[in-house]
Parts: sequence; structure tokens; C-alpha cells
Amino acid sequence: MSPSPSDRPIRSFVIRASRATDSQRKALEQHWNAHVIPYDAAPLDLARYFPKSGPLTIEVGFGMGDSLLEMALKEPKSNFLGIEVHRPGIGKLLRGIAQHNLQNLKIMCHDATEVIANCFDVNSVDRLLIFFPDPWPKKRHYKRRIIQVEFVELLATRLVAGGLLHLATDWEEYALHMMKLLQNESMLTNCADAGRFCDASTRPETKFEQRGRRLGHGVWDLLFYKAG
Ligand SMILES: C[S@@+](CC[C@H](N)C(=O)[O-])C[C@H]1O[C@@H](n2cnc3c(N)ncnc32)[C@H](O)[C@@H]1O
Repeated sequence: MSPSPSDRPIRSFVIRASRATDSQRKALEQHWNAHVIPYDAAPLDLARYFPKSGPLTIEVGFGMGDSLLEMALKEPKSNFLGIEVHRPGIGKLLRGIAQHNLQNLKIMCHDATEVIANCFDVNSVDRLLIFFPDPWPKKRHYKRRIIQVEFVELLATRLVAGGLLHLATDWEEYALHMMKLLQNESMLTNCADAGRFCDASTRPETKFEQRGRRLGHGVWDLLFYKAG
């Protein structure tokens, strides 16, 4: 029996029908098995997928993946996991991983809320990044926003002591909502002064951010750590 509409989880994404380019499609076919970790609702054995151990960064919703690729190239001693459901973006990132023969960057194609809840133990992730999550600007869609009180609590439990949670948005009202939730989460402390946003220059610029800036949007970054 299929679940009734009220049983279905509210997702923070819709699968867009945008088509992959030829090179993205080719990369999806050629490199999926080597670099996409299949989702299983059980703790992930990182050593099986990453040849070297190192601090783990997870980026939720990497979009086209350019900024994630840049970070993984810059930090070869760290491991990176990107979680995304948009296949053309996955294809683009797979192409970059293959071109650079990167061993420290893997992908999962599944709802990030389930991946983080089911595949990671508490105190196991060094850094969690969510850059420009879909703003869902209409009030009736707020429930689709990924940054909700329960998700923030889940993220905080997964971070190691001293681990970082970095969020960014170009939607001021969403930024204020994020700030309120992060400040109210007792496991987290603002790296800037209380209530303050931080400097965006500590991370690469993302595709979505570039688009927002072209449209005249502001940018708000939030950087919190988990106290020991
Ligand atoms: C607005 S885009 C931003 C992409 C990228 N971070 C950037 O700044 O260019 C948000 C992305 O998050 C992805 N996304 C939203 N909810 C997600 C979820 N629950 N799990 C995985 N990906 C998700 C969407 O597919 C989309 O590509």
C-alpha cells in the first residue's frame, strides 16, 4: 500500500526536470560507481570509501559542486562528502572528481536529512556546510525549508566537539530564522559575537550566490561551533 499524502515526509527539495548536458550524462554513466556511495540507512564505513583517514566535511545540497570541488582540491588531507539529489549537478561534480583524480571527495544522492540521521554516529563529523539552501520564500512553503529546529539539533549531535556548522543564505528573512535557531541550540556557540553574522570570505563563492549577487541580493554567513 502506498503512503497517504499525510504520511509522506515533507521534502526540502523537488527533483527538477532540468536535463543534464552530454558531458554531465557521460560522467554520470562513467564515474557513478567509483565515486557515489549508495545510500543505506546504516552507519557509513568511511574507511571503505576514503583511502586516507582525515577530518570529514559534509556539504549538504552542493548544487553544481564547483565550490565543493575547490575545497577538496585545496585540502587534500581532509575528506569531503557532498550530498545532493540534483543529477546534472552530480554529473558535473563527477566530471571534476575524475579530471583531478580526487580520492578525498565522494557523493551521496539521497535526502540529506536521512543521510545525516542514519549514516553518521553522534560526534563523528568535523564540519557541516549548507550554502544557499532553497529559501522557499512563500510562507505556505516554510515547512519545506531544510533549516528547522529538529534538523539543527540533529546536525549539532553529529558534529565532533569543536566541529563547525557553516550556513549561508542570500535571503535575509531566512538568515534571521537560521540565526534564531542556531542561537537557541544549546550545543552550538556562535564563532562571531552573539547574534552576529560572519565573514563569507572563509569559503569559496557558490554558483547560487553568484546568481543572487547579480540580482542585487545580500549574503549572510553563520558560523557556529560545537562546544566540547
Ligand atoms: C538553492 S540550491 C544551492 C546549491 C549550492 N549550494 C549553491 O550555493 O550554488 C540548493 C540545493 O540543495 C539541494 N537540496 C535541497 N534539499 C536537499 C536535501 N534534503 N538533500 C540533498 N540535497 C538537497 C537541491 O537539490 C539544490 O541543488
